[in-house]
Amino acid sequence: MTDLPAEFYDRPVLEVAPELLNKVLVAGERSGRILEVEAYGGEDDPGSHAWRGPTPRTEIMYGPSGHWYVYLSYGVHWCANVVVSAEGTAADYALLDRHERIYAASLPDRIMARLGELEDSLGGYQISRLQHSLQTATRARRDGADVDWVVAALVHDIGDDLAPYNHSPIAAEILRPYVRAEVTWTIEQHGVFQSYYYAHYLGNDRDGRDAFVGHEWYQQCADFCERWDQAAFDPAYNTDSLDSFADDVRTVFSRTAWSHLDR
Ligand SMILES: [Fe+2]
Repeated sequence: MTDLPAEFYDRPVLEVAPELLNKVLVAGERSGRILEVEAYGGEDDPGSHAWRGPTPRTEIMYGPSGHWYVYLSYGVHWCANVVVSAEGTAADYALLDRHERIYAASLPDRIMARLGELEDSLGGYQISRLQHSLQTATRARRDGADVDWVVAALVHDIGDDLAPYNHSPIAAEILRPYVRAEVTWTIEQHGVFQSYYYAHYLGNDRDGRDAFVGHEWYQQCADFCERWDQAAFDPAYNTDSLDSFADDVRTVFSRTAWSHLDR
């Protein structure tokens, strides 16, 4: 006896249902042969529990194909249902979209948690990446920068651990749906502009930023690096706490985001 492959269920219900006949259903030490099947067409079928769309009670019917579940029918019979489908319906994707929005709503919490993890990052500096990030944001805040800049300064190195040599675009992509375009651009390019302060010590070209001379946001990126980022390695600086930025993070990452679907 062999297990049915997952693809068996990933077809229209009228194909799958008759082929389930005579199959053996195994649950733990018990098994039984399937002698009778019924087939329902989801939201296209008034006989289906799913006809009125997803509800807390029918949500299980919108799971992945091949998912079996048992329910009590009319309070009398125990019935086994299996979800099948060759493709998702509008209701399936509406359900996924709802879950995605709920998940996205907790993004500020994940940003804060991730920032906290920067405490344990690369060595050699007098302060941790978290302290550097906080100091960058504190300097921006004390310069009177608006919340977009403060939060961008706070997260500008958030990709450091997974992309040590190209972390700038990671932070930029996290910010892009939520802040002004010039802020995203600055964070995206800050690695190149920042190299002005050290590349020559490593035998490299410190003037990579010259490729952007004449760009409308060149000067603000140069200023971001000079005033906030490059200045934020001072162990004696009176840096604000991570908690003090929680409201700013929530403000920015709770905004209505554009998505790639909007393009
Ligand atoms: Fe930095």
